Amino acid sequence: MPKSVRDILSMKGSKKITVITAYDYTTAQLCDKAGVDILLVGDSGGMVMLGYDSTIPVTMEQMCFFTEAVSRGRQNAMIVADMPFMSYQASKSQAIENAGRLVKAGADAVKLEGGLEIKETVHAIVEIGIPVMGHIGFQPQTTTLQEGYKVQAKTKDSALKLIENAKALEETGAFSIALEMVTKEVSKILTESIKIPTIGIGSGPSCDGQVLVVHDVLGLYEKIKPKFAKRYCELGAEIVKAVESYKSDVTSGKFPSQEHSFSMDKIELERLKKEIV
Ligand code: KIV
Repeated sequence: MPKSVRDILSMKGSKKITVITAYDYTTAQLCDKAGVDILLVGDSGGMVMLGYDSTIPVTMEQMCFFTEAVSRGRQNAMIVADMPFMSYQASKSQAIENAGRLVKAGADAVKLEGGLEIKETVHAIVEIGIPVMGHIGFQPQTTTLQEGYKVQAKTKDSALKLIENAKALEETGAFSIALEMVTKEVSKILTESIKIPTIGIGSGPSCDGQVLVVHDVLGLYEKIKPKFAKRYCELGAEIVKAVESYKSDVTSGKFPSQEHSFSMDKIELERLKKEIV
């Protein structure tokens, strides 16, 4: 049985929550097998899977496509899908309709960027029975407004605003909050001041859980290497090495060998040769 909202809520204060992004069947299956609690179908997929420079161009169609593939690969993890830019900002009914599309595609919950300003939208989605994960701190969908990638909550005033946003999300019924690039001191204070779990990315060790982009964990994405993302292997370099060996084997005739070829029955072969000569 996949993890439920109740399972995730019960982990606060007792067990750290592990979240990793996934956008396709195979990666979802492997990460699920590794025992993560949540597979996040992040709109970061627009960058690491589709090559966009930001998450802004990502569409609902692309998010549904990723979510369907991930849902075919999971067994135990909860699936949270990102609502892409402009899929929930125009109206509450637009937000409800698009959250519903992601659930139909296989998500158990949706994630939206924003705090107080989207309180009513979050409430409307939760009211119809779709669990919501909030996302505050650095919000990639509004990078331009935030003057690029910047650490959040470095001053007293910005920290207070962040905590106010977190409390607003908790009040609306969000079941958890992603905290992106928040100073570790403020993450600790915020995590201790709300009852729902915080999931940090670049926000220090005191959050209730951690999330990383799978391409960063596996060393697959070279364009941006965030300071907070620990690379657990360099799969990109391994892939280049493997494909170079394949190319070398093809050009030298070493591949395919007998082992990778199929044989015809000897008698049938003789009969064929007689007929064609
Ligand atoms: O899209 C994503 O991968 C995310 C994480 C960075 C939290 O939102």
